[in-house]
Amino acid sequence: MDMSTTCSRAGRSLDLLPIRSSTDAVVAGALATDRCLSQGFPARASREVGIAAAELASNIVRHAGIGELEIDVSEERALLTAIDSGPGIADTQAALEDGFSRGRHLTDPDEPMISLGCGLGAVARLMSRVDIRSRPGGGTVVEAEKRREPSSR
Ligand SMILES: Nc1ncnc2c1ncn2[C@@H]1O[C@H](COP(=O)(O)OP(=O)(O)OP(=O)(O)O)[C@@H](O)[C@H]1O
Ligand SMILES: [Mg+2]
Repeated sequence: MDMSTTCSRAGRSLDLLPIRSSTDAVVAGALATDRCLSQGFPARASREVGIAAAELASNIVRHAGIGELEIDVSEERALLTAIDSGPGIADTQAALEDGFSRGRHLTDPDEPMISLGCGLGAVARLMSRVDIRSRPGGGTVVEAEKRREPSSR
């Protein structure tokens, strides 16, 4: 996590983290949670953003090798942007479905479980909005936003 860039001013924090290992993914999750707490997000919402950040970063490591995660948090919303130049995703809609992993649906119960294919689905459930921009061979950008409930301000 050397080389990370942090910028903070009243009412907003912005971090750009290089993601190269599963340790980076865990640290990114903890940092995202901290940034949300600092901006006054409730504890549960802050942890949800942290889980989403760790999942997006771990997808970079697992499916693309290396990339970057931007964590942009204000009092109104947390915006995560995961960017990589990896192999891309052919069917972004299917990738959001639970049980879809590495280009296909996991249907055979006897197959060794490498993953559940539930990561992006979980991100969609935890956040207010998820947008995936990707094409095969062209890298992937996943943007996930959580808006803060007006009642918690
Ligand atoms: N950054 C990425 N680059 C390329 N493909 C990706 C990327 N992120 C996700 N994918 C594709 O989308 C699929 C679904 O991702 P998802 O996170 O839901 O499941 P998973 O990573 O396979 O398993 P799990 O997250 O449950 O351990 C992945 O299997 C992979 O094929
Ligand atoms: Mg995943």
